[in-house]
Amino acid sequence: MARSPAATAVACLLVAAVFLTTAAAGAEYVKYKDPKQPINERVQDLLSRMTLEEKIGQMSQIERANATTEVIEKYFIGSVLSGGGSVPAEKATASVWQKMITAMQKAALKTRLGIPIIYGIDAVHGNNNVYNATIFPHNIGLGATRDPTLVKRIGEATAHEARATGIPYTFAPCVAVCRDPRWGRCYESYSEDTRLVQLMTSNMVTGLQGDVPANHPKGVPFVGGSKKVAGCAKHFVGDGGTQRGINENNTVLSFHDLMRIHMPPYDNAVIKGISTVMISYSSFNGVKMHENKNLITDTLKNKMNFRGFVITDWQAVDRITNPPHQHYYHSIQETIHAGIDMVMIPYDYPEFVADLVKQVKQGQIRLDRVNDAVSRILRVKFTMGLFEDPLPDPRLHKELGAQEHRAIAREAVRKSLVLLKNGKKGDKQAMLPLSKKAKKILVAGSHAHDLGNQCGGWTIKRQGESGNNLTGVGTTILEAIKKAVSKNTTVDFVERPDKDDLAKSAGDYEYAVVAVGEPPYAETAGDNQNLTIPAPGPEVIKDVCGLVKCVVLLVSGRPLVVQPYVDYMDALVAAWLPGTEGQGVSDVLFGDYGFTGKLPRTWFKTVDQLPMNYGDKRYDPLFPFGYGITTKAAGHK
Ligand code: GLC
Repeated sequence: MARSPAATAVACLLVAAVFLTTAAAGAEYVKYKDPKQPINERVQDLLSRMTLEEKIGQMSQIERANATTEVIEKYFIGSVLSGGGSVPAEKATASVWQKMITAMQKAALKTRLGIPIIYGIDAVHGNNNVYNATIFPHNIGLGATRDPTLVKRIGEATAHEARATGIPYTFAPCVAVCRDPRWGRCYESYSEDTRLVQLMTSNMVTGLQGDVPANHPKGVPFVGGSKKVAGCAKHFVGDGGTQRGINENNTVLSFHDLMRIHMPPYDNAVIKGISTVMISYSSFNGVKMHENKNLITDTLKNKMNFRGFVITDWQAVDRITNPPHQHYYHSIQETIHAGIDMVMIPYDYPEFVADLVKQVKQGQIRLDRVNDAVSRILRVKFTMGLFEDPLPDPRLHKELGAQEHRAIAREAVRKSLVLLKNGKKGDKQAMLPLSKKAKKILVAGSHAHDLGNQCGGWTIKRQGESGNNLTGVGTTILEAIKKAVSKNTTVDFVERPDKDDLAKSAGDYEYAVVAVGEPPYAETAGDNQNLTIPAPGPEVIKDVCGLVKCVVLLVSGRPLVVQPYVDYMDALVAAWLPGTEGQGVSDVLFGDYGFTGKLPRTWFKTVDQLPMNYGDKRYDPLFPFGYGITTKAAGHK
C-alpha cells in the first residue's frame, strides 16, 4: 500500500534526525556495535570488516600465562583459558582474578574492531581452580542424587562463582557416558545410563547458561545475562566408550550404537542452547574425533543444527600425530576442514596463526570455512552480551564461596551418598543411623580428615592433591562427625590404627567410621585396570571392622573392588568425591536426613567382568545400577 505524503515526510525527517545526530556526534554508525540490531546482522557486519589475521585471531585460544596485553593486541586473540591449576597467583582472591581478566579485556577492546575476548576455565564441580570456591560433588555423585533441579541449582551457583572471578565461560558440563570405570575420567560422567546423562545435561546447561526462552530455535546458543556463563558440552563424542576405558583411546562401536549410547546428551545440550562443544581426543573406529568431519560438521552442525562454536581440546591439533606436533601444518588443515572453529593452542599460537593464514591465502583452506568458524564465535559473544558488558563486575566478588552455595553443595553430598549395606545377617537392628550420644567412637582411614582426597581431581590443581593445604574453606568428614556428636562423645582419630593397639582398645569404642578410597587424579593419571582400593585401605577395613562395629565410607571416583571385604563391614556407603562440604556426610550418617542416593553405575564383582553395564545380556553385579538402601530421617538415638 503506498505511503501517504505525510507519512513519507515523517519518515524522511526521522532518517535525517538519525543522520544528523550521528554526524553531530562525529562517529560513523557501526551496525555491529548496535545491540538493537539482529545478532546475525551484527555478525555479518563485523565479519565484513575483519582482515584475515583478525579472523584467525578470533579462532585462537591461548593460555593465561602467555596472554600479555601485547600478545592479545598483536594477534587479535579471541579467547584465553586457564588450564587446570593455572591461576594469577597462589590463593588468588576474586578481585585478583578480576584484575587479571580486566587487563586482558582492555587490551582486546583497544584493537581496531574492539572485539572482546572470552575467558574460559574448567569450572566442572564449582569454580574449582579458585581458592575458597565452593567445591561440589563430582558428576558421578550428582548422577547418584537423581535430582535434576538440584543439578540446575548447582549450575546456577557455579555460574555465579565463575562470574565472581570475572570468568564468563566454563568447559562444562562433561556429558560423557562412561561405560567402563577403568577410565580415569569416569567420575566426570553422570552415569553409564544415557537417559540419566541426558537428564543431568539438560539441567546443568540450563543452570549455567539460563533457561532458553520459549520457542528458542534449536541449536542457537543462549546465555541469559551477566550472572550466567557460556557452557561447553564435552568431549564430543564417545569419550566414555573407549576400549578398556583407556583415556583418549579408540571407541569401537557401530554408528548406530554411538548414536544410541553417546550422542543423545549432545542433542539435549543443543536443545538447551549450549554455546560451545569440545571435541574428544579419542577416536571413533580408528578416526581421530578432531578430524571427523562426518560427526562434527555433517552430524552436529548440519543434522543437529548446532549454531555455537566447536573448540578443540588442549593441544589436540598437535596430538593428531604421535609423537605430537609432527606434520602440524597438515593437522591444522584436517581439523579446520573437519569443522573445528576455535583451537586451544596454549603456547604455539604464533605457528598456528602463521600456518593457518598461509593455508587460506594459498587456497588449501577455504575462506568460507574460516568465515563460518568466526561467525559462530562472534554469535556466541554477541549472544552473551560480551560486546555490551565485557568487563568483570566487582559487585560479584561476594559470590565466591557464598554460604548459600555451600548449603546447596551440602545438600548434594547428602543426596549423592549411596547406602549399600546396613547391618549384618541376623543383626537385630540396622547399623545406621549412628548414635550421636556414644561415649567413645573411632574414626580411621586416609580419607577421614583430608579435604584434598574428598574433592578429588580438578581441584585447585588439575590433578588435585591430598592433604588439607589445598583450599581454604571446607569441612572434612572427621570435622563433620565431631560437629554432629554430643559434646560428651570422645572421638579418637587414628588414620592407620595399629592392629595390636586396637586389640587392646577395641572394647572402648561403640562404633568406628572408616573412610578410605582413591587419591585425587585427573584424565589419564586415573586410568586403572585393577580398581583395587589403594593400600592401606583394605587392611584398615579388616583390622578395624574385625574388632569394632564399623561403617565404611568409600571415597572414590567410581566403584572399586569391595567384594572381599563386605562381610567384615556392618555398613558400607559409596561417598564418591563429595567436595568441601563434608557435613553432608554426617547429615545422613547420624540420621538428620535419610539416605536416598541410587547407584549411577553398576558395581562389579571383579574387574574381569568389565565392561558391564545395565542392560547387558551378561549382567552379574555385586550391586546393580539403581541400587541403594533408603532410610528415613530418624530421631537421634
Ligand atoms: C584437558 C581436558 C579438558 C579440559 C581442557 C582444558 O586436557 O581434556 O576436559 O577442558 O584440557 O583444561
